[in-house]
Order: sequence, then structure tokens, then C-alpha cells
Amino acid sequence: MVLSTRPTNITIINVPLITSIEERRASITHVGVVLVHGVVQELVPGVKVIFAFIADIVVRRFRYVLGVVADVAAAAVAVDPASVDGSEKMGVRVRGRGRGRGRGRGPTTATRPIASSPSLSTYSSRLQRRPISAYGYEQAKALVLSKYGEPSDVLSLHGHSISPAHSNNLTLRFLASPINPADINQIQGVYPSKPTFTTSLSTADPIAVAGNEGVAEVIATGSNVKTVGKGDWVIMRQPGFGTWRTHAQTTEEHLLKIEDKNGITPIQAGTVSINPCTAYRMLKDFVELKEGDWFIQNGANSGVGRASIQLAKLWGYKSINIIRARPTGSEEMKQELKELGADVVVTDEELQEKGFSEKVKEWTSGGREKVRLALNCVGGKPVTAMAKVLSPDSHVVTYGAMSKQPVMLPAGMLIFKNISFDGFWVSKWSAENYEEKKKTVKHVLDLIREGKFKDTPVQELPWEWETKQDTLVQAVQGTLEGFRAGKGVFVFGKT
Ligand SMILES: NC(=O)c1ccc[n+]([C@@H]2O[C@H](COP(=O)([O-])OP(=O)(O)OC[C@H]3O[C@@H](n4cnc5c(N)ncnc54)[C@H](OP(=O)(O)O)[C@@H]3O)[C@@H](O)[C@H]2O)c1
Repeated sequence: MVLSTRPTNITIINVPLITSIEERRASITHVGVVLVHGVVQELVPGVKVIFAFIADIVVRRFRYVLGVVADVAAAAVAVDPASVDGSEKMGVRVRGRGRGRGRGRGPTTATRPIASSPSLSTYSSRLQRRPISAYGYEQAKALVLSKYGEPSDVLSLHGHSISPAHSNNLTLRFLASPINPADINQIQGVYPSKPTFTTSLSTADPIAVAGNEGVAEVIATGSNVKTVGKGDWVIMRQPGFGTWRTHAQTTEEHLLKIEDKNGITPIQAGTVSINPCTAYRMLKDFVELKEGDWFIQNGANSGVGRASIQLAKLWGYKSINIIRARPTGSEEMKQELKELGADVVVTDEELQEKGFSEKVKEWTSGGREKVRLALNCVGGKPVTAMAKVLSPDSHVVTYGAMSKQPVMLPAGMLIFKNISFDGFWVSKWSAENYEEKKKTVKHVLDLIREGKFKDTPVQELPWEWETKQDTLVQAVQGTLEGFRAGKGVFVFGKT
């Protein structure tokens, strides 16, 4: 029997992988729902919602009664969990409109694995924990906020369903999403670009999904989607997408396809578009540095700082790198950055010491080699000390404000040395330079593949379907601590 059904906005029932007698019961129950829904929708489209609702209640109520029937049926029907779902075995085939995992021309009954076979007593709660719709609705979770504040106060884990991909829509499953300082600022409400608050994720009040960067796999596409296909990896064309989520539905114009994912890990792809691009553009777009020229930067152990060190080394520029003096481990950090390609590494305390300019002269062959660019993501007094060592007509590019202190501009530097003070914001640059962004991302990924660009240290934060809200929110809050061993990155497992 083949039924043609159309998706509604109702999540009907939860169907786990069929591996135990209890799960077989659910499978049969599920088949009942598919049947009822299908017939109702085929014959009486106008009242489908009412009937779907009634069917839902009936099946939930009588789940265990139907389960007993399923037990009897199970004796006669051998179900192979790996190859086919229960509805197919029962001769029911449901055709959905989406393409992709668990839908399309094949049966739409999703059979995503859950951790283990539940006992009968825990079965009902397990069903609640991993719902998959009979209509190919993807079940998703997202870290969301409804108002600005500290991450631990305003973030919550929100579950919702995503309708099957159709027309221009496509469905994404996230693989890796970093926690960048800008994400935190955005949640706190102090970042210029605001997240999109919407009720489209099935909430009464508007919510926004946090996170701006990440990589996702395309798992289903509508028929009008042309430039990406199932299995492709995509990153966000611009920040503001909301990347701390297991799944998303979107359209192609928000995405940039990773043309060649060979030799690239999800973490590398998921962290390429903000920090390495920022470093790349700041080194290229403000001053025409020549081989042998120097630049100076603070926050040198940050993601951007490490990318700048490595790109500069590849392009023949030399670097003076400033890190924060730390209670322990400053020397180890200096050594780590030198191994990446830094020429000189000093602490912010050493930068402020008298005689620092003399040291710079020594490093730059008595001042014959020019220091022509300063990159600042910290702010405060140390920026003035950095600017002091620049040659005339150089540029100070500010791209962050980690210390939350203002940048001081001594008049003499503007008047007598003609130092330019600029800002850089990768969001704006990405919005205005799509083709250039594509090339920059491709170039960095090529360098990674060739072993010429090392990953920034990360702290992997696993996000499975069962991962609790507290674990995720605490992981975000934890990134506010200084002297971290690595950037926090959500790495999505079985979602
Ligand atoms: N404008 C743009 O387009 C753009 C793009 C990318 C990044 N950014 C900005 O660049 C900065 C670095 O980002 P990221 O993702 O590369 O960072 P990250 O890898 O997460 O590292 C954070 C860096 O900030 C330093 N830091 C933390 N608190 C500090 C404080 N109070 N004073 C001084 N330094 C402090 C850390 O030093 P310790 O190890 O000593 O704690 C570390 O070097 C951030 O401000 C970010 O917003 C801007």
C-alpha cells in the first residue's frame, strides 16, 4: 500500500532504531500513525490537522496496547534494524517531499540510532528524549536566548522540529561550531550586530540562536537548490546565522560551500571563516608589507594572533608578538608561538618597560627594517607603546577590545609620524567581499591541507543529542575565563 502524504506542522511520534522488543512495539505503533495520517490527508485534506491531532492522542494513549499487538506481530515479522524501518516491513511506504536522510523516495520513518535499548519502564521517557517525526521532520536543539545578559543567565536549550526540505530550502546538520569572544559579546547585547530574534522556531516569544561561526553538513535539499547537495560541507557566508544548534533550515545564499573537504577536519572548516580570514585581510589590506618588513601585535596567542604569525611567516614578514604576562607558563607560551613562526615574543609587562624601543631597534637591524603595521585586539595603554615603535606612515589596525579599555591616540603620532589608526570588522568585510572571502577561505584551507597552517588549540565540547543544557551553557560561560588552554568548540556527535 502506497500512501502519498503531505507534511503538517505536527510532530507526531517518536521512532527509535528498532533493536529490541520494546522498540518493535513502537515501530508498530508508528505504522499505525502513519496509516491514520496518510489516509486522512489523502481523503479529507481540509480536516487533516484535526485528525492528525486525534490520531496523535489515540496513539499516545494506547501505545502500550498497540505494543502488545506488536509483540505478537514481532513473533512473525523479523525486523532488521540496520537495513529497513518498520513501516517498510509492514508494507507501508510513505513518500515525503524532502530529500535526504530518512526521507525522500524511501520510507520517511526515521531510524536514527539512540544510545541503547531502553527497558519497558524507561521506554516512554526515552521516546520523549529523542523524537523523530513520521513525516521526516528533523528534530533539532539549539542554544537560544530571548533577552540579552550573561550566558549562564539567558541561554537555554530549545527543542523544535524542522520541516522536510522543499523548494529553495535545505536542511543542515552542524558538525563543529566555535565559541568566539564576539559570540559572548553578542549574547551580552554589547556587540553591534544583533542576532535574529524570531518565533519561527515554535516559541510564543521571539528567540535567537547564539553562535556566529561553524561548519554544517547538508542533509537534505529542496528541488530548487542548485549550488549545494547532500553531503556537502558549508560554512556561513556571514556571521549572525546562529550556529550553536544541531540542525538548521536555510537557503543557499546564506552559505559558502567548502569546495574540497578532503584532508580538512570539521574543526578546521568550522573555524576558518572568522579568525584566519581576519588575520589574512589585516596583513594584506592596510599596508603593502614587503618581505623582511615587521609587524607588531597584541593578543598574539589568540586565534587571530596565531593565524597572523603563521601567515606572516609564509609571506616573509617578521613579527613582534605580545602576550599577557600570566602567573605561570609565560615562557612556555613564548616558546609555543616561536614554534609557530613568531620572531619575537614579549609579555605586555615587557612592552611597557623602559628601553623597549631600543630592543626593537636591535631586532630590526638598528631600525633599518621597518615596523609598518600594528594589530590590536586588546586596547588600553599598551597600544600606545606598540604604536611608538612604528615607522612613519604606518597603520594601527584595531579589531578587538579584550581589555575593554579605550585606545589612546597621542597627537604627535598623528601629526609628526602620520600614523593611521584603522579598524577592521570581518563581518562587514565578508558582506561586501563575497568572492574575496571565498578565495581567502580556500587559500587557508589549502595551506591547512599542505601542512603549512596549524590549528589553533581547541577545547572540544562534545554535543550529543542527550547533552544537557547545563553542560552546554557552562561550557559557554567557561570561555570567559582568561589564560585558557584552547578555544571552546562544540563538536556535534549523534544529534
Ligand atoms: N574585528 C573582527 O573582525 C574580529 C574577528 C575575529 C576576532 N576578533 C576579536 O579578536 C580578539 C581575539 O579573538 P580570538 O577568537 O582570536 O580569541 P581567542 O582565540 O578566543 O583568544 C582570546 C584572546 O584574548 C586574550 N584576552 C582575554 N581576556 C583578555 C584581557 N582582559 N586582556 C587582554 N587580553 C585578553 C586571551 O589572552 P590570555 O590567553 O592571556 O587569556 C587570548 O589571547 C577578540 O577581541 C575578538 O572579538 C575580531
